[in-house]
Amino acid sequence: MAIFNKKNNSEELPTVLPNHIGFIMDGNGRWAKKRGLPRTFGHTEGAKNFRKIVRYCKDIGIKYISFYAFSTENWKRPKDEVSAIMNLFREYIVDVRNYLSENTKMVFLGDISALDEDLQKKIIDLENDTKDYTEMTLMMAVNYGGRDEIANATRQIAQKVKDGELDINDISEDTVNNFLYTREAPDVDLIIRPSGELRLSNFLIWQSAYAEFYFTDVLWPDFTPKELDKALIDFSKRGRRFGGV
Ligand code: FPP
Repeated sequence: MAIFNKKNNSEELPTVLPNHIGFIMDGNGRWAKKRGLPRTFGHTEGAKNFRKIVRYCKDIGIKYISFYAFSTENWKRPKDEVSAIMNLFREYIVDVRNYLSENTKMVFLGDISALDEDLQKKIIDLENDTKDYTEMTLMMAVNYGGRDEIANATRQIAQKVKDGELDINDISEDTVNNFLYTREAPDVDLIIRPSGELRLSNFLIWQSAYAEFYFTDVLWPDFTPKELDKALIDFSKRGRRFGGV
């Protein structure tokens, strides 16, 4: 799936853009280390950049954007780093309310029950307040893992079968899709990973079956809208056949 780029004023941008972009916000720690700063500074810069990229995506008319903000494995990091990231969520989630007037729906992907209660409440309120907005959907993966998401969907489907609400022969790909955190969004078209790592790290593993991947050595805090333009130009040149010829 792709959308036509109606809004941008940039001559460089292609006319066909991805409908759904996933961002793996990697390289914050290295960004800070290169400057002799604590890792948490990198996350703060990463969060600022998140805001810039969200705004830019909106300006050019991207309909769905997903950000890998905290994985199910990230709890293994030092306590102070985890709590610094959680505080950035608090700050930036409140900040996202400024987008409310701009018709952006917020959806959180992942098991938020592991987060502090105040943060859970902010997330639930934000999702409720924005649920009817249609111009853009912004998905934040927090305490998210693709395998965990599929296991969670499987448990819910199994329960339906057990309760006699679903026949086992009626379980299709669509059934699975309907129990994923991303159920309201189309599959991701383009996954962008900065910082030189060439892997998916358990992000949107079901949804990326036919996604294009864009990797760059630029670190996430330095991933500017100009860098995103480069990824979009690259994407527009890919021949996507979805298994056909
Ligand atoms: C990966 O970089 C980044 C994370 C695990 C956290 C991402 C969090 C943010 C960008 C801040 C909060 C975000 C929002 C949207 C409020 P890394 O630390 O693994 O980098 P490294 O590989 O260079 O160490």
